[in-house]
Amino acid sequence: MTTSILTNSQVVTAYQAKTAGSAALAQEAGAVFPSGITHDSRRTLPYAIYVDRAAAGRKWDVDGNEYIDYYGGHGALLLGHGRPEVAEALQAQALRGTHFGACHAPEITWGNLVRDMIPSAETVRFTSSGTEANLMALRLARAHTGRAKVVRFTSHFHGWHDHVAFGVSNHFDGTPTPGVLADIAANTILAPSDDIAETRRILESDNDIAAIILEPTGASFGQLPIDPDLLSELRELTTRLGIVLIFDEVVTGFRVSRGGAQAHFGVTPDLTSLAKILAGGLPGGAIVGRADILEHLDFDIAAEKGFEKIGHQGTYNANPMSAAAGIAALSIINSSDANAQATTQAGKLRQLCNNVFVEEGVPWASYGEFSGFYFFVNPDGIQVDPLNFDARAVGHSVLKVKSPVAEKLRLALMVHGVDIAGKPGGIVSSSHTDADIEQTAEAVRAATRMLRAEGDIKPN
Ligand SMILES: Cc1ncc(COP(=O)(O)O)c(C=O)c1O
Repeated sequence: MTTSILTNSQVVTAYQAKTAGSAALAQEAGAVFPSGITHDSRRTLPYAIYVDRAAAGRKWDVDGNEYIDYYGGHGALLLGHGRPEVAEALQAQALRGTHFGACHAPEITWGNLVRDMIPSAETVRFTSSGTEANLMALRLARAHTGRAKVVRFTSHFHGWHDHVAFGVSNHFDGTPTPGVLADIAANTILAPSDDIAETRRILESDNDIAAIILEPTGASFGQLPIDPDLLSELRELTTRLGIVLIFDEVVTGFRVSRGGAQAHFGVTPDLTSLAKILAGGLPGGAIVGRADILEHLDFDIAAEKGFEKIGHQGTYNANPMSAAAGIAALSIINSSDANAQATTQAGKLRQLCNNVFVEEGVPWASYGEFSGFYFFVNPDGIQVDPLNFDARAVGHSVLKVKSPVAEKLRLALMVHGVDIAGKPGGIVSSSHTDADIEQTAEAVRAATRMLRAEGDIKPN
């Protein structure tokens, strides 16, 4: 174990006492996988829990411990775990065949649902992940404009491919992370998140910019929020300058509203990348948007207009299983108030947690938008009023909370039956009940008491 505040901690001892089965599996995993894990954000010290099954808003680990789950399949599960309509669609499809290596009718149904729900989606191309959707978005923008550079906002996450691998949690100076070519970094300009004046200056000062891509509610689903007016300002600027505006709605799509952030804020981008909820909890992504941009993928139009088409393959693009789950999930979202339910429950959770922080005298805050929540665990010991916390005013340092205290908070919450992501924060589904939310707030109270007893919470 490398993190000092986890050494000789009662929190760690309590965690280890209930997770012996997970510890044994982590030991095995360490021999197979780098760091014993298959996704960076699952790194947990001293080791992660191993989950056996899940239902609605809860999951159970291999030791039989029950957790209220706020990981939500990394945001893929707006409807919670095991929604019967989705499970039944998957069972039926598995029996009909999982991969035909051929076109199939459900992919059209799925594509039409996406077109009906997402305002920018004139046409659709399915991919296998959000990373792939963003990779294609940037390639389409470059092919369409004939320009080389793309602009991204610092700390906004767009997956792990080469063009977006730096400037997220490190390399804020724009230098490439290991394995990424310097030329790629040189053609990717990082703009400061939430700074419209500087973004305007960057876009107006270079006529070789093909696209600007952003998370439309701010870095990491609003962990560092942006002024929503930025969206309409960017719309006006990019239209004027012929720059492709790309919303990365991998998280916000079908979550912020059934039509994503773009429907909620009334700003339609040129291209939108989608994944997560899109495929109902199975792997899947899509790049959607203006037909005259996606036509760079079209054999006939390319031949007719005399340009070279962009190649695009992908064994699992629109595979029947993902299509089945996606159709089932999107149909429910399109015809119910699932978005509003998840948003309401998250609002209650943030409020109850902030009440706990006030009652316990903890200088932290729970904040977030829509169905997301974050804990600001105040690493620099600033003055915080939990009930009036403004993450935009704190600025970029709200992202600094990935700290030993945050890690210990996660463990303490797991000891009390709640699993959040390491940010620290989580995502609420429409299946989280009032009882789940109230139990979570009490777990937060118990966890903060454990941390206070170990001297990890500084007074306001
Ligand atoms: C905003 C955003 N964009 C892109 C991605 C990458 O998607 P995927 O994990 O499907 O490759 C993620 C994943 O968390 C994301 O949150």
